[in-house]
Amino acid sequence: MSKEDISRRQFLNYTLTGVGGFMAAGMLMPMARFALDPVLKGASDQKLVAVTTIDKITNEPKRFDFKVKQKDGWYESDVSLSAWVYKSKKGDIIALSPVCKHLGCVVDWNTDPSHPNQFFCPCHLGRYEKDGMNVKGTPPLAPLDVYDQQVKDGKLYLGKAKPRKGA
Ligand code: FES
Repeated sequence: MSKEDISRRQFLNYTLTGVGGFMAAGMLMPMARFALDPVLKGASDQKLVAVTTIDKITNEPKRFDFKVKQKDGWYESDVSLSAWVYKSKKGDIIALSPVCKHLGCVVDWNTDPSHPNQFFCPCHLGRYEKDGMNVKGTPPLAPLDVYDQQVKDGKLYLGKAKPRKGA
């Protein structure tokens, strides 16, 4: 018998190890997939939720608070959100996130007497125009996020707030 030949015992060992490993992988893969699935999916896409009726929306930005259901991994929760909503001169509905793009404080509408008709962030004196564009020379470097929206049966539905390019 040459050195490269394998004995019957070795052949049996290799075969049983291979088949055993294959069967173990077949049993463990579905279990691992089941355990990790919610994490692999990440946060669920936010569905559109009714925020207000259209008749309550004017040319002046108004803040509307609402809740969305959020699923993150195995964790489900109700998250409170807000939007500044108004009608543009053309009649389009604009829904802006109130979260300042500098460090995340909440912006107010028209509360800085020296800069009327702008969104104002009291944390570091950040300012935004009515359309949410950041005012150059103030701390925020990007405009306020805009909500996905849909009007249906006289109601405004909002979805995810999406970022835009800065001024
Ligand atoms: S957090 Fe708004 S200006 Fe800094």
